[in-house]
Amino acid sequence: MKRSQINAIIREADEFMRAHGFHLPPFAYWTPEEWTHKGEEASEIVDCMLGWDVTDMGSGNFEKVGLILFTVRNGRVENLKTCTGKTYAEKLMMAEVDQLTPYHFHWSKTEDIIVRGGGKLAIQLYNSTEDGGLADTDVTVSMDGVRYTFPAGHIVVLSPGESITLPTGLYHQFWGVESRVLIGEVSVVNDDNSDNRFLESLGRFPTIEEDEPPLYLMVGDYPRYYQRRK
Ligand SMILES: [Fe+2]
Repeated sequence: MKRSQINAIIREADEFMRAHGFHLPPFAYWTPEEWTHKGEEASEIVDCMLGWDVTDMGSGNFEKVGLILFTVRNGRVENLKTCTGKTYAEKLMMAEVDQLTPYHFHWSKTEDIIVRGGGKLAIQLYNSTEDGGLADTDVTVSMDGVRYTFPAGHIVVLSPGESITLPTGLYHQFWGVESRVLIGEVSVVNDDNSDNRFLESLGRFPTIEEDEPPLYLMVGDYPRYYQRRK
């Protein structure tokens, strides 16, 4: 993806989130220059991969396959292991109509996907087979405290206010319906480096062509700008 495209997408996403009453924390707006002066006090943002994340999942076609995410809070894998401290995570996401986040499941993360505002969200569900394929068995999920059983491949469509709990090992792909949709995610600690199992091998993070300076940094940019200082 071109950096100019990413900058434009972030500008638009920020506006959309604000329009729906969601305001991001201060680090969302730190400039690349400001990042170069940050010290050890900001290490949680980097270590827990908080912040902007615009991805085409390596598709080269963001309009068709892609997602905009902002990780608001996240703990560390050690927190999960010891059941202490920040064992939870929260994200905001934005998807366009028919813009796909392809089939994947999580090895250890249970997540609630919540429609916070805008359009609707379609989510297609399959159990996974032992060798990582799509199973033909019925899928049982909880949606806002009510349990449902659906046939394999069922598409759930969530309206603003509705949510679904996606347990580990459950394949899901999703896309926006009717209009751009603001999505929330509340989950246990999120580790995007090792917890995502895509059905087809995809890159979780995009390759970037630097055709202009970054407006704000994305999670993948931190190592280039942030030097841990005491
Ligand atoms: Fe997921």
